[in-house]
Amino acid sequence: MSRYYVVHPFTTMPKKSNLTEEEVNNRFFMANKGERHWVLNKDDQAFLNLSNAAYSLDQSNEIILKAIFEQYNKLSASIMVNQGHWIANKLAEKLLNLAPKFSSVFYSNDGTGAMESALKATRQYFIEKDMPNKQKFISLNGGYHGSSIGALSITNLGFEGVFGDLLQGCISVPSPEDFREKEDKLDDRHAKQAAYELEQAILKAGPETVAAFVIEPVQSVNGIRVFPNLYFQLVRQITRRYNILVIADEITTGIGRTGEWLTSSSLKLDPDIITISKGLTAGYFPLGATLFSSQITDHLIENGSGFPHGTTLSGHPVGCSIAIKVLEIFEKENLPFRAKEAGEYIMNELREGLNKENIIREVRGKGLMIGIELNIESEEEIERFNTIKSNIKKSGILATFSHNVISLYPPLNISKSDMDYMIDALKSSILLID
Ligand SMILES: Cc1ncc(COP(=O)(O)O)c(C=O)c1O
Repeated sequence: MSRYYVVHPFTTMPKKSNLTEEEVNNRFFMANKGERHWVLNKDDQAFLNLSNAAYSLDQSNEIILKAIFEQYNKLSASIMVNQGHWIANKLAEKLLNLAPKFSSVFYSNDGTGAMESALKATRQYFIEKDMPNKQKFISLNGGYHGSSIGALSITNLGFEGVFGDLLQGCISVPSPEDFREKEDKLDDRHAKQAAYELEQAILKAGPETVAAFVIEPVQSVNGIRVFPNLYFQLVRQITRRYNILVIADEITTGIGRTGEWLTSSSLKLDPDIITISKGLTAGYFPLGATLFSSQITDHLIENGSGFPHGTTLSGHPVGCSIAIKVLEIFEKENLPFRAKEAGEYIMNELREGLNKENIIREVRGKGLMIGIELNIESEEEIERFNTIKSNIKKSGILATFSHNVISLYPPLNISKSDMDYMIDALKSSILLID
């Protein structure tokens, strides 16, 4: 191979242009085929794929393959601008059954598109309600909300400055995590401190200028951060006081991953807008959805103004028919409940097996969003983490790493034997370094 032609998203690219295939394989995992929850490279080495919330089912699932084939056969392409198709409507009905307070669905191509739609609908809503100054968005430190300029402007992970000036009026506030001391477990004290900071930020910005507060029910890219329930309750009280909308970014947490169909529904967050993607099509097709509560629907639809936003292929019939099948499989196999049970089993086993290790700070998560946080401060600990990462890959596991967390997103229908494989592989990858 003389040259590598693809620029990967969020990936430091090799400087050399004449890479060998082996060098490429070492740097990225290059998938060649999939078998159930495993992905294989060209040498047929198999890896249990726990690297993204999009992988919520098995590869080549027969029910989904059949739906794809039938849908392409019946209607292969159909746009949604001044046209439509009934599959989009059927999926919307199913999604709204999961979120009773919500009354309309807007489709996009991915999570970023779902977030961008949420931000733009919020601005349009306040303009049409004669509150044109309500333009600002507040979001949490450590939040990730997507890669367009709008979604990136509410992302606070520290890399955003690469693109120069972003959207004006985006404010980041500390999360409960920011108040946690090294030895602490997150609790209501941290929730109250973060809520206090949120209110201060609103007052400082001027409540009449703040449109929405955006939050992931469990932070994902930032290393699986689960905040106390009280925080969400306080957020809603504060935002309501100042007429600020709440946007729940459920792109990772939605569709069963944390043990519930929608994570925000068991929190007292009571959002006005919910965004979904990833697990919606189990990674089989790019599709995002933004759910609007009745008050927003009224402005976008019933006032006759419409929503002057969208993309050519959003709400593709094949994507919608896949999502319908995903929801049917989840319902039939009770997968949200299984995610809850499986998550508890995996976390208990990991905690038990790793609790004596000094390098482990915490095993945490919700359902099948699981994080193993390591104590990484010294150069030596960074080195140890690098060895652990390489051990994990050698043991046949694809995970995701942030600066001190191993993040794991097992599929929701993972088998007991794959769970045990995962637990053993992770334990030995970490224990091996001592
Ligand atoms: C919480 C959250 N929001 C938004 C996004 C953006 O979704 P996408 O990558 O599909 O654009 C992601 C992706 O990782 C995410 O985790």
